[in-house]
Amino acid sequence: MITLPPLIELRNITYSCPGRTSPLLKEINFSSSKERIGLIGPNGCGKTTLFQIIMGLLTPDKGEVLLQGRIMKDEKDFRLLRRKLGFLFQNSDDQLFSPTVLEDVAFGPLNLGSSPEEAREISVRTLEGLGLKGFEERITHRLSGGEKKLVALATILSMQPDLLLLDEPSNNLDPETRERLIGILKDLDQAHIIISHDLDFLASTCSHLYTIEDQKLIRCKAKQIHSHDHIHPYGDHPHQHGT
Ligand SMILES: Nc1ncnc2c1ncn2[C@@H]1O[C@H](COP(=O)(O)OP(=O)(O)OP(=O)(O)O)[C@@H](O)[C@H]1O
Ligand SMILES: [Mg+2]
Repeated sequence: MITLPPLIELRNITYSCPGRTSPLLKEINFSSSKERIGLIGPNGCGKTTLFQIIMGLLTPDKGEVLLQGRIMKDEKDFRLLRRKLGFLFQNSDDQLFSPTVLEDVAFGPLNLGSSPEEAREISVRTLEGLGLKGFEERITHRLSGGEKKLVALATILSMQPDLLLLDEPSNNLDPETRERLIGILKDLDQAHIIISHDLDFLASTCSHLYTIEDQKLIRCKAKQIHSHDHIHPYGDHPHQHGT
């Protein structure tokens, strides 16, 4: 049986921020194909930086990014990688640049060779799938924070990437929209890596959990993600929980 190389692989990645003496990330090894992964960790530990390295937006001091077993050497390689990986930025304002929602969502498909009619059709369908029917002509920069997040997600999904890298996708979402996003992510065929501080969100959407600790990427083995019913004395009776 032939074993396929992983979709994405990191080998011995070390990265130092400009002006800092010790590396932010050190000798990171990681691979992913079809998994649904959650990435947690304190502010500033390097989660977003790791995504930027995978996408070729930052160059590590040492180490390699591989796509389907091929080392990404230059910008041309990373352009190919960016067609297969969809990156949702932590800040939607960094992602959305067109005057209208339709133009933003259609930009990717047009770039990938769709005709204007096809790109429009894909965009309308993608927006509808995210509950954004009728948003096509809305002015992007006037959308609310949560709406921007969903439109930014639409700009990625419209390109049908193989793997989604989502940086804090549930930020700014109201509880109902957050639940809807959980349902959408569960239904998607694509694998994903989700950065979030929202553990319940990760528990609902991911099967593995990683964290960055002491510059290293570590798979959380001790605490598998799970949802649970809690049990304790007097649980049969109406009661309140402390904080
Ligand atoms: N261009 C840069 N120059 C100097 N320091 C940088 C640069 N880019 C990032 N950093 C630093 O690298 C560290 C990691 O940043 P990063 O955005 O990856 O953190 P994060 O884990 O995503 O945090 P958060 O949960 O707050 O989003 C931070 O301390 C940040 O200030
Ligand atoms: Mg971040």
